[in-house]
Amino acid sequence: MADTHPLFTAYPIEDFKRHEAALTAAVAGVMRGGHYILGGDVAAFEKEWAAWCGVKEAIGVGNGTDAIELLLLGLGVGPGDVVAVPSHTAVASISAIRRTGADPVYVDIDPTTFTMDPVSLEAALRGPAGGRIKAVLGVHLYGHPVDAAALAVICARHDLFFLEDCAQAHGATFQGHRVGSLACGAAFSFYPTKNLGAMGDGGAITTDDAALAGRIREIRQYGWRERYISAVEGVNSRLDEMQAALLRVKLRDLEHSVARRQELAARYREGLEGQPLVKLPAVRGGVTHAYHLHVIRSPRRDELMARLLERGIPVGLHYPAAVHQQPGYARFAAQSPGLGQTELAIREILTLPLHPWLSGEAVDLVVREINEWAAAG
Ligand SMILES: Cc1ncc(COP(=O)(O)O)c(C=O)c1O
Repeated sequence: MADTHPLFTAYPIEDFKRHEAALTAAVAGVMRGGHYILGGDVAAFEKEWAAWCGVKEAIGVGNGTDAIELLLLGLGVGPGDVVAVPSHTAVASISAIRRTGADPVYVDIDPTTFTMDPVSLEAALRGPAGGRIKAVLGVHLYGHPVDAAALAVICARHDLFFLEDCAQAHGATFQGHRVGSLACGAAFSFYPTKNLGAMGDGGAITTDDAALAGRIREIRQYGWRERYISAVEGVNSRLDEMQAALLRVKLRDLEHSVARRQELAARYREGLEGQPLVKLPAVRGGVTHAYHLHVIRSPRRDELMARLLERGIPVGLHYPAAVHQQPGYARFAAQSPGLGQTELAIREILTLPLHPWLSGEAVDLVVREINEWAAAG
């Protein structure tokens, strides 16, 4: 495989370079402060993150997978319960469900937005696991919000918890509201490559429900309500104080960096619109896409991917297999409705390079390569 073309730099290190002085000062501040676990920076970040998302509460936890798990545990989801979730997602969405003891039921996607298809959710509710479904975890995959209005109606009708997996969508909006504020609770990851990325693991839960937030705060620290006395069973999953300090610095730039992602996506659109061999990401009316990943479709995906890699353009697959196609999680597919759109998408998707510090020149190069490949037949 060719070496990566020099125009395509890695996002976490580029982001560090942009904010080096402030990030270094933030870490030094934590080190000098001497309060390393659940200190002032975690508390301040939780307030700032809740405000940014437009909710009352944010709870910082160890990573995004834990955020989903703790959100479900806080709602009392556990063994015997079923959580509806797309199979077209990061496996973490499902591994978190399993950690609670609940089972997933896989739901198909809308092929244009890659997010949960409400019609397929209705089919799952009529299916063999339907009576045990307690929650619906919508995943704003790649940064495109789920159809929150349709899913909320179905959840209300069936008395289910509607939840968001926002790991890929910091800054996306649905009808003017930021993701993280669209359901009874939401989970975020701050993995270094995310739209808001720490320099290690990190995650958070957002909610307007103060009682739920209180339960999750207990669960994240051994079930303590007061120190050394576990009121309930819990785990250890705390957002790290240094990561919180770093996230506070990066949060100041999040609005701008999401806007930059959107600008680069528009540049791809300008260059590739009308190209019959690729389908660009759709953006449903009333939403903004946060472009964590810029994923196109092509019926000749493998060929296009090989060509771009040969030219040193770092394209990828998110993901090479749907979750129900992976041995560790295949057995849950038996209860699921048809997953035909998921299986088709898996064969056609291709992630093009995009991050806030990528140059317009880099995008233009990708566009040129794709158009030349298409013209060559
Ligand atoms: C959709 C989705 N959900 C959950 C997660 C889990 O986040 P983390 O890696 O922080 O545990 C990720 C990130 O990998 C993700 O992309």
